[in-house]
Amino acid sequence: MEEEKVRIAILGAGIFVKTQYIPRLAEISDIVEVGAIWSRSEVSARGAVELARRHFPGVECKWGDGGLDEIIQDKSLPAVAVVLAGQVQVDMSLGLLKAGKHVLQEKPASASYTEIEKALTSYHSICANSSSRPIWAVAENYRFEPVFVECKKLVADIGDIMSVQLIVEGSMNSSNPYFSSSWRRDFTGGFILDMGVHFIAGLRMLVGCELTSVSATTTHVDLTLPPPDTITSSFQLENGSSGVFVMVVSSRSPKIFWRVVGLKGTLQIERGNQDGKHGYLSTYDSADRTSSTFYPFCGVTEELKAFLKDVSSAGKKGNLHEPETRCSFIEGARDVAVLDAMLESAAKHGEPVNIKKL
Ligand SMILES: *[C@@H]1O[C@H](CO)[C@@H](O)[C@H](O)[C@H]1NC(C)=O
Ligand SMILES: *[C@@H]1O[C@H](CO)[C@@H](O)[C@H](O)[C@H]1NC(C)=O
Repeated sequence: MEEEKVRIAILGAGIFVKTQYIPRLAEISDIVEVGAIWSRSEVSARGAVELARRHFPGVECKWGDGGLDEIIQDKSLPAVAVVLAGQVQVDMSLGLLKAGKHVLQEKPASASYTEIEKALTSYHSICANSSSRPIWAVAENYRFEPVFVECKKLVADIGDIMSVQLIVEGSMNSSNPYFSSSWRRDFTGGFILDMGVHFIAGLRMLVGCELTSVSATTTHVDLTLPPPDTITSSFQLENGSSGVFVMVVSSRSPKIFWRVVGLKGTLQIERGNQDGKHGYLSTYDSADRTSSTFYPFCGVTEELKAFLKDVSSAGKKGNLHEPETRCSFIEGARDVAVLDAMLESAAKHGEPVNIKKL
């Protein structure tokens, strides 16, 4: 029997919708159908719809308050992807959840820790008052990237962790399409928060335990970028080990790596490319063996599949399927909580700050 396709609407028609959502959903069009694309403005909605129509001929173009209301009322659209400015995503998601839609919201999960607390209270009351328990997922592809899935298993073999390093020298300069994105210019935490959640997600997944406290310094050196554009933080892990997180938003020679040094070995994940594909190279080194494997990126597709599977199961009678925790709102919120604590510490001149437990 052929599975029925999940019909979704996409809210947002910006760069990420055009370059990731539409092509990645097109690759899995055997399980999904894009039923509508919405944007505040008609012009931008039309731009994205034109692209999507090649793969999803039935996609409708919606804009403004009226178009949004039509999507909310449309019972044939059980799920919505929210790919909007970081400042408005949580309110939009909550509105849709209240209307009974399942939501896949783009990262960052929220703009601040304060917003998380309010969001969770609202979400819990929505779930308590509805029989259907709408799913609130946050798109964080790093938890689905095979390099982290595989290295999470390997980390046990390096023994007690002595030190962790997460170094990010990014390449967010004027050649990058997100460089001039207007909402990012006006976002507290700047690119450190917007991009940083990916790296913190990778870190938390890799070490397999939570961070507890941080002490950080931020600066604003490259004035073409919104503040802050650098951060240097030390952090403590739940089980007593410690590490450093350094991030420079834009650098001449980009480099990104996580390195975990254990009593019995060392594990490193480094951004790179092989055979024309972007991805991450893992290297493992212990007394028994050394190995290195390159994993091309594919996390966005994997997370979309996981969400669609959850939506499809949620619609079935007697459903016992638990939604994938790697894309739960709470996981995304934990990444934000780490960066929020770092930014708070930096504002207090490096005073240690405990990360709020969620
Ligand atoms: C900390 O936890 C990680 C993950 O559970 C484990 O691999 C590591 O050995 C622990 N480190 C210490 C110092 O206990
Ligand atoms: C931006 O960074 C990339 C990657 O490092 C580099 O190739 C490019 O030349 C840079 N562009 C500008 C305008 O600095």
